Amino acid sequence: MQKPAVNAIEYILFNLCGNRQDMKTTPPKVATKLAEYHQEHLLQWWDELSDEQQTSLKTQIESVDFETIQRVWQESKQGSDTADTGVDRVEQAAAPGAVVLQPSSDAEETQWQHATKVGAKLLTDSKVAVITVAGGQGSRLGFAHPKGMFPIGPISNRSLFQVFAEQILARKRRHGGEIPWLIMTSSATHSETMEFFEQHNFWGLDRNTVAFFQQGSMPAVDASSGRVLMSAPDALCLSPDGHGGLVMALKTSGLLDRMASEGVEDFFYHQVDNPTVILCDTALIGLHALNNSQLTTSVVRKQYPTEPMGVLVDINDHVEIIEYSELNEAQAAGKDASGQWIFWAGNTAIHMFSLGFLEHLTSGGGQLELHVASKTVEHIDSAGNLIKPSEPNANKFERFIFDALPLASTALIVEGNRQREFNPVKNAEGNDSPATSRAALSRIAREWLANAGHTLAESAKVEISPLTALDADELANSLAAGRITVDALTKLPDAT
Ligand code: UTP
Repeated sequence: MQKPAVNAIEYILFNLCGNRQDMKTTPPKVATKLAEYHQEHLLQWWDELSDEQQTSLKTQIESVDFETIQRVWQESKQGSDTADTGVDRVEQAAAPGAVVLQPSSDAEETQWQHATKVGAKLLTDSKVAVITVAGGQGSRLGFAHPKGMFPIGPISNRSLFQVFAEQILARKRRHGGEIPWLIMTSSATHSETMEFFEQHNFWGLDRNTVAFFQQGSMPAVDASSGRVLMSAPDALCLSPDGHGGLVMALKTSGLLDRMASEGVEDFFYHQVDNPTVILCDTALIGLHALNNSQLTTSVVRKQYPTEPMGVLVDINDHVEIIEYSELNEAQAAGKDASGQWIFWAGNTAIHMFSLGFLEHLTSGGGQLELHVASKTVEHIDSAGNLIKPSEPNANKFERFIFDALPLASTALIVEGNRQREFNPVKNAEGNDSPATSRAALSRIAREWLANAGHTLAESAKVEISPLTALDADELANSLAAGRITVDALTKLPDAT
C-alpha cells in the first residue's frame, strides 16, 4: 500500500481514522501520546462514537500514566522469572523488634491503661479522624454492591457501614469531641455508597463530619502485549488503583489539608470488611502517640505458619510486610534463636497514621510503588466481540498502603486480640466469610453477656449494637441499670 505523503503523526492518524476527513475529528495530542506507547487501538472506534462518548474516552485516556504503566509492566515481565528480590527479603527478615505485646504482667497492664487514657484524651480533644478504605471491588465475596453495604448483623442484618457509623457515634458520646470520618470510594463504589448513606440518613451522624473521596483508577493490560484492554468502544478496562491509592487521593481531594486545619493529628485507618475492628481503639491511639510513631500497625498472631496473611518483619532496620506468597513452607515455619516464629505478626490492616507522616508522603508526589497482578479480565477484542477468558489474561496495577511502612522513620507494632478484633469478610464461603464473621459477632456478644453473668448456649445468636455497648463493661453496666435486657439482644424488636 502506498503511504500518504504526510509526517509520522499524520500517518498514524490517517491509519487510525481511515481517511483524512475523519482525521480532523481525532484528538491529535491523545493520538500522539498513544502512538508513543503503542496504544493506538484505543481510538479504533473513535469515528463511531457520539460527542459525549468521545469526551468520555478522551478523559479516560488522558488520566492514564502510560509511561509508568509501560515501565512497570516491562519490569514485571523481566522480573517474573527471577525470585531473587523476594528470596533476599525473606532471608534478611527478622521478627519485628518495636512491638508492644498484649499485656501479660501488672506492669504491662498499667502501661496499657495509661495509653488508653492518653488515647481517650486525644479523642476528647478531636485530634483523631477515621479513614475507611471502601473502594475495593470485593470480587471474592461476589456481592453485587459496595462491600460496606453487606448485611453483617447476625440478627438485624445491619450493614458493615452501619456498624462503623454506630461505633463512631458511640465513641463521640463516650469521649466528647469530634471524629471526622473519611471514606475512600472508587468509581466502582462511589455513587452507591453515597446513596446508601443518604438512604439511611447517615445513621444519625452529622453529615458534615463525613467526607467521601474517590481514589484513582488504573487500566488493565493484555498480559502478553501490554496493550490496554477495552470494555467497550468508548471505555478502557479500568479498576481502582489499590488501597495505596489513599495517599494520593487524600492529597488531591484536599482532605489532608482540611484535616490539618481542623486540628486533626492522627488517623485511625481500617478496611471496610472487618465488623469487629475497634474503631478509635483508645489503647492503640495512646500507644501510637506515646511512642511518637508515624505509623502504627495492629498485628495478630498467625494461627499456623502457612496461613495466608501478610506478616510484619524488620528488614534492615525498617518495618516491612512480607506477603504469604513470598514464603515457601519451610520459610513460613522459620524460627529465630529464641525459638520464636519469625513470621508471626499477621497484618490486620488496622493502622494509625500521623498527619505529619501522610504530609511527608504526599510531598514526594504521594505515589507508592505499583504492583502488578495477574487477573482474569473481560474485554472486547479488535472486532468488538466480548471476550470472557477462563484463565488470567491480563495484568492489573495496584498500590498497597503497607508499602508506606518502610518509609516511616518511627513505626510501631502493637499486638491485638485476634478473636476480638479481626474477623473480616473476604470470601463467599469458608474462612473469612460472612458465616465466620457473623459467628464472631455473636461469640463476642455472648462473652460480654457471660461477663455480666448471663451465660447463653454456644449456638445462641446475639447482636449488640455499638450504640448499646462498645465493650463488656459498658454492657454489664447497662444490664445492671436495666437500660437493656438480654432478650432485646437475642431477637429482633417487634414490628410496631
Ligand atoms: P481487598 O484486598 O480485600 O480487596 O481490600 P477487595 O477489593 O475488597 O476484595 P477482592 O480482593 O476483590 O476480593 C482490602 C480493603 O481495601 C479496600 C477494600 O475496599 C477493603 O476495605 N480497597 C481495596 C480499596 O479501598 N481500594 C482498592 O483499590 C482496593
